[in-house]
Amino acid sequence: MYRQLLAATRLVNSTVARMSTQACRDNNMIFRQLFDRDTCTYTYLLADARTKEAVLIDPVIELAERDAKLVQELDLNLKYVMNTHVHADHITGTGLLKKLIPGCKSVIAKVSGGSADIHVNHGDKVTFGDHLLEVRSTPGHTNGCVIYVSHGQKMAFTGDALLVRGCGRTDFQEGSPDTLYESVHSQILSLPHDFILYPAHDYKGQTATTVEEELKYNPRLTKSKEEFINIMNSLGLDFPKKIDISLPANKVCGLHNLPEHLAAKFNEK
Ligand code: FE2
Repeated sequence: MYRQLLAATRLVNSTVARMSTQACRDNNMIFRQLFDRDTCTYTYLLADARTKEAVLIDPVIELAERDAKLVQELDLNLKYVMNTHVHADHITGTGLLKKLIPGCKSVIAKVSGGSADIHVNHGDKVTFGDHLLEVRSTPGHTNGCVIYVSHGQKMAFTGDALLVRGCGRTDFQEGSPDTLYESVHSQILSLPHDFILYPAHDYKGQTATTVEEELKYNPRLTKSKEEFINIMNSLGLDFPKKIDISLPANKVCGLHNLPEHLAAKFNEK
């Protein structure tokens, strides 16, 4: 009887230990979702609460000072400024953040053709404190698109590959609906159903979704590949208004051919 009781106690204790380890990991992540009203872009700040090491994903140049201020206020050590791809609709804040917070390094996929301190490839790991982001290649919106997956926190930052109930467009910048369909299904919707997905944009006020929701309700990606290709090829969207300045600037971390008001800002730094 005593032995049975002891075994039962051990089982309970080990379950509690597992649960509290998980709770510790969750509490150990500082997470902020930041928004740019002009281009409906989300920027994400992630940090290890213990070591204070932090990363920023997809910052916007006009809001780089906001981001740098938050990093300073939270007493964080910004290690990496990362982009999911070379953006066409806004200029990345990467270059300006490197000036505002000396020592942080820029990160982008090698395939993107963008310059950066660190080029990542499919399968690479980006670490900050006790946390780790897996790089997954998801071409289709652009060739160089990647997503960053935190298996520990059950979350993924999907860039423009997958949006809430939508996906990135495929009609410019090496876009391919065929490739995007394969990427989203093999690299994102194959994650466990309860993973939370954070997009690079949302135009309707949504902030996040899950794998399960998108498998059920995504109006494009629940279709067959042939239907998806037809949908994407008949969207008839306007060309992004900032593409002519954004693409060349983003190829060099936002520090090239800037519009006058932003160039003046850079010179002040
Ligand atoms: Fe994009």
